[in-house]
Amino acid sequence: MAEKVTAPEIRKMKQRGEKITALTAYDYSFARILDEAGVDILLVGDSLGMVIQGEPNTLSVKIEHVIYHCRAVSRAAQHAHVVADMPFMSFQVSPRQALKNAGRLIKEGGAHAVKLEGGVKSAAKIAAIAGADIPVMGHVGLTPQSLRRLGGFRVQRDEGKLLDDALATEKAGAFALVIECVPADLAQKVTAAVKIPTIGIGAGPGCDGQVQVLHDMLGLFTDFVPKHAKQYARLAETVQEAFCRYAQEVREGTFPTGQESFTMDEGILRELEAPAAKPLPPR
Ligand code: KIV
Repeated sequence: MAEKVTAPEIRKMKQRGEKITALTAYDYSFARILDEAGVDILLVGDSLGMVIQGEPNTLSVKIEHVIYHCRAVSRAAQHAHVVADMPFMSFQVSPRQALKNAGRLIKEGGAHAVKLEGGVKSAAKIAAIAGADIPVMGHVGLTPQSLRRLGGFRVQRDEGKLLDDALATEKAGAFALVIECVPADLAQKVTAAVKIPTIGIGAGPGCDGQVQVLHDMLGLFTDFVPKHAKQYARLAETVQEAFCRYAQEVREGTFPTGQESFTMDEGILRELEAPAAKPLPPR
């Protein structure tokens, strides 16, 4: 397994022309699998509001929710860079508020870096966070926290605004930049215009890396499938089949068997501390 992925290393990956891989993560078990698979960045996204909490958008997510999930993900990450998303109204008020909450995500959540939405209008907040030596990732294009102003989740086509936002994010000291739902050729122009790596979601193949929402790419979130998401598995079906088999076996009395039951001689379920997890099969 490679060394730990750091913010400077992510910047160097762009210089070396190496693609950056990122996926969202919200819990320990998935984060372990993602980390072992060699994914570079685990983003504890405020998308947790939708795929974990079942909200219609991300606006209700609180900093405490991100801290809670981030702690679980950070415990699993041996290799990956853990980035915590700054939820709506955790940074918009002032650079001071942004810095205070970024600090909480690092100290309480165990994150290695934070991400916040908005380009030009977030520049002072990015500068405050970066000025305290906290690596910060920008997020431009479709910014879901601006949902009410945008009037929906829409593809962003304003080239001038996108370039201004990207350049302002870079100038303010961000080490990387998420570009969401932007036409592919526009995202490619932005990628060429900035020295920091761009990480696309619905922004075409010309970005320096890609990020997807875990539940979308695993086919676990079935309320809707965004056009930019590719389902690498259809886990909702697999998991439902397992639940049905379990319920059927319990009802008909074929689970548990002697195999899953204890005798009078057996006392210890497992030692107090969990044994070291079995390594996953090599990639
Ligand atoms: O919250 C999130 O998961 C994100 C990604 C979509 C980039 O911001």
